Formats: sequence, C-alpha cells, structure tokens
Amino acid sequence: MENVPKRLATSGALKARSELGSISGGKVLDVATGTGDFIDTLMKTLKEYDCFVGVDISKKDLESAKKRFRDKPVKLMEMNAESLEFDDNSFDVTCMAYSLHHLERTDKVLAEMRRVLKPGGNFIIQEEFFDGNQTEAQKTNLLQHAWEAQIDSLLGETHKTTLTKHKIEEIIGNLQLKPVEILESAHPVECLFCKKKIECIEDPKNQERIDGSIREIDSNLKRLKEIADPEARVRLGKMGEELKERNRKFGNAPPSVLFAIGRKALESGF
Ligand SMILES: C[S@@+](CC[C@H](N)C(=O)[O-])C[C@H]1O[C@@H](n2cnc3c(N)ncnc32)[C@H](O)[C@@H]1O
Repeated sequence: MENVPKRLATSGALKARSELGSISGGKVLDVATGTGDFIDTLMKTLKEYDCFVGVDISKKDLESAKKRFRDKPVKLMEMNAESLEFDDNSFDVTCMAYSLHHLERTDKVLAEMRRVLKPGGNFIIQEEFFDGNQTEAQKTNLLQHAWEAQIDSLLGETHKTTLTKHKIEEIIGNLQLKPVEILESAHPVECLFCKKKIECIEDPKNQERIDGSIREIDSNLKRLKEIADPEARVRLGKMGEELKERNRKFGNAPPSVLFAIGRKALESGF
C-alpha cells in the first residue's frame, strides 16, 4: 500500500490487515454496527466474503448504513445483541468494533455472538484501550471520550469509560477461542484506508483536526442543560473547557487498539 506514514506502518495495523486478509469471510455478522464502519473495513481487508449482516440497537445509525451499502450484499437489522434473532452456528464470522464499552450486559452479547458462530468460524474484536504508552494527543482523545461517557451516562445511555488492555484481554480469554491471536496496535486498521491519515498521524495538532474536536466538545457542552444535577453540569462544563485547552496544546489522535482474532473450537464446551 502506498503512502503509509511511518508511524502507521510500524503500528501493528499492517499485521492486523494481513491477518484479516487470510480470512474467507462467507457470511459475516457485525454486532453493534452503528453506521457500518467496520463492515466497510472488512470489505476492504477480508480475503473474500459472501455477505454481511449488521445489527444495532439504534435505528438512527442504521439508516445511514442502509444508504451507504445500498448496492452491496449487506443486510442491516435493528436488534438488541443480547438476544440475537439468528439460529445457532449460522455465521462464518462474528465481529464487533469499538463497542465492548457500550454494552450494558457484555457477557450476554458475547455469548450470543459465540452461539451464532459456526464451529471453526472466526470471532473478531477491535477495541480501543485506556492505558499503555500512548501519546499526549491520544490521551486527549481518551480523556475527551471519558468526559463524553459521563455525559451520556447521566443522560441515561450505556457508555462506560474506555477499558484497560487487561480487561479486554480478560473478556477475550473468557470466550475460549482456540487458537486466538491478540495484536496491539497504536492505530486501527481502518487508518490505512483513511484519506487524512498523513495529517492525522504525523501531525495530530493540525488545525482542521483540532477545530473538529472542539466542535465536538461544543456540541456536547450544549447537551449539559439536559442534566438534572446542577453540580454535575458545572463540573462537566469546566472539564469541557479544559479539554478544549488540552486539544490546542497537545492535539488529538485516535487511541491505540487491541485487535483479537480467534476461532470457535470445533468441540464447543462453552
Ligand atoms: C461506538 S458505536 C460502534 C459502531 C461501529 N461498530 C464502529 O466501529 O464505528 C457503539 C454501538 O453499539 C450499539 N449498541 C449498544 N448496545 C447494543 C446492544 N445491546 N445491541 C446492539 N447494539 C448495541 C450502539 O447503538 C452503537 O451504535
């Protein structure tokens, strides 16, 4: 691939892409698909695929995913992943990106993803993590995310703080996949396909990026008036202003991710 910035080339993203490139997708289920970003990434990276099914509990994001994949073999369904409306062993791949920390009952969703996966099928998880050796620009992104998660939670949405590497590894370990490979990458695989990868990765303090991030803070600040507790409104308002300053000082870059690919064992004892 041309024009891969050095930091991206050495981040682990190329290794993740090559792992995905060895998988014949068949029928793929993307859980908590949102606007379908991970389906788009898998279309560009899997060795081959027959079709995708994307499910999400929120109708709003699915509408834009439907437009995005209008001419593609993608079916999008509104569904709570705690209770998947599919037969046992009916998918060749089940996957989920950036959503572990959005789930109310993580164990239930993962058990369902495992149930509908064929024995020998691939289970793929990509999730950003909180700790480790991340740059100041990445820390801005993580702190901003933690702030947004507090606002979402106070407004009744399930949104937890970004998980630690250890916690994500523990969750993956409980899935009893064999074999399983866990890769750590400073940048997710989709960065390889992003038009703005050079500015974003080599210069996280570029003005366009900071302006975008500050616009996001401003739109979250507007939501504070919906919070009933006045003390929380003041505290979160102050944090929002501090985050704007932090964006200007250090920039903002996507956090590091853990990327896991494992197979459901042929003899299933789950
Ligand atoms: C951060 S988004 C991730 C979207 C997408 N996977 C991506 O890579 O951009 C998290 C998504 O999880 C969805 N979600 C949360 N709980 C869910 C559940 N129980 N069942 C299905 N989707 C759920 C939310 O509606 C939201 O679209």
